[in-house]
Amino acid sequence: MPTVAVVGAQWGDEGKGKIIDLLAEKVDMVARFSGGSNAGHTVVNPQGEFKLHLVPSGVFHPGVTCVIGNGVVIDPAVLIGEIDGLRGRGVAIDRFFISDRAHLIMPYHLLLDRLEEESRGKGAIGTTRRGIGPAYMDKVGRIGIRAGDLLERDTFRERLSQALEQKNRIITGLYKAEPVKLDQIYDEYCRYGELLAPFITATELMVAEALEQNKKVLLEGAQGTLLDIDFGTYPFVTSTTTMAGGACGGLGLGPLKFDRVAGVFKAYCTRVGSGPMPTELLDETGELIREHANERGATTGRPRRCGWFDGVVGRYSARVNGFSSFILTRLDILSIMPSIKVCTAYKLDGETVVDPPYSASALERCEPVYEELPGWNSDITGARRFDDLPEKARSYVKRLEELLGCPAGIISVGERREQTVVVRELF
Ligand code: IMP
Repeated sequence: MPTVAVVGAQWGDEGKGKIIDLLAEKVDMVARFSGGSNAGHTVVNPQGEFKLHLVPSGVFHPGVTCVIGNGVVIDPAVLIGEIDGLRGRGVAIDRFFISDRAHLIMPYHLLLDRLEEESRGKGAIGTTRRGIGPAYMDKVGRIGIRAGDLLERDTFRERLSQALEQKNRIITGLYKAEPVKLDQIYDEYCRYGELLAPFITATELMVAEALEQNKKVLLEGAQGTLLDIDFGTYPFVTSTTTMAGGACGGLGLGPLKFDRVAGVFKAYCTRVGSGPMPTELLDETGELIREHANERGATTGRPRRCGWFDGVVGRYSARVNGFSSFILTRLDILSIMPSIKVCTAYKLDGETVVDPPYSASALERCEPVYEELPGWNSDITGARRFDDLPEKARSYVKRLEELLGCPAGIISVGERREQTVVVRELF
């Protein structure tokens, strides 16, 4: 029975929410392995439209076990709000589990995210200000607080007081801001602990058991490969491993357990926040895509930067993740374009390059080299099989297959579940 990782292949917001929701129908477990409430997955299904930040999109399918792995950083207030919101709309949360090893976002992480961003001035990363960077810093700095700590109050108080000693020195000394208070945070988080206790467990054992029993497991990524802490456009990245390999460390899963790795690409590119994006369109075509596709961040509401499909970073993303196939989303958006450009190489300081340069500043200097393909100019939202797509849309997909070096598995032609063309089954 397959174990399949589904990860973002660009700068996040590729439409993974819909895809996970769709695939979840066929699986026994959906396990999320990285990121935090910086992610925003929009799911439209018969129960309505939902914006999820932490709970895996598999939650809408009764019988599917949803896991938040140890690689995720959890803001308990956001998670509890999300659980309450889902329950309020009739979604059962009865097969949902949180790793006791998952680190928590604390109030001082939210504060420090803001203070750090403000102090960066022009070099600001444009974070979602959800405390992600500071929480992962504490994880690797070994002063983080984990979900399991909420169940051991004495340990929790001791670790919190150690952390606050350091945090308040930084908050008051470096940033001249008001210190945060131990008792207030302790009481607030003990309350969260009571509410979350039924969900907190050793999820790595649940994942191992599911694999042993030959269950179908979907490993859900967050953000995208170009925001990966190692292979993204550093320093304009998030603070965790967004690539498929992150599922090993983020869930406690051996690398030999993967059967397939699927990368989710939007049919064009978008990015929120700062950092290089070679195919960004700062003209009316970019504006047209943004308005037509309503490209605004699901978490922050910020307008997304829009541009043509970038085959250079796409191929790179396919390589560092080892994609066995790709999932193409929002192909219907391009139906309004008379012709469509695809970036196949860059011009960098007078040279043609086919791999992205290592530094963000060099990537900023890259000029895209485009190939122009004819548009299909017709409504494709009713397509259900590859052959239903107009020939020019099929040629576009085939060109992307060549550029990415792997086959298309699923093509999304609208936001609803059924608006999907399955070329190759993943499960
Ligand atoms: P952080 O993850 O909030 O620290 O933000 C770091 C960078 O990642 C910023 O450029 C954010 O805009 C970007 N980012 C974080 N999460 C997402 C996401 O879910 N979609 C798109 N961009 C994201």
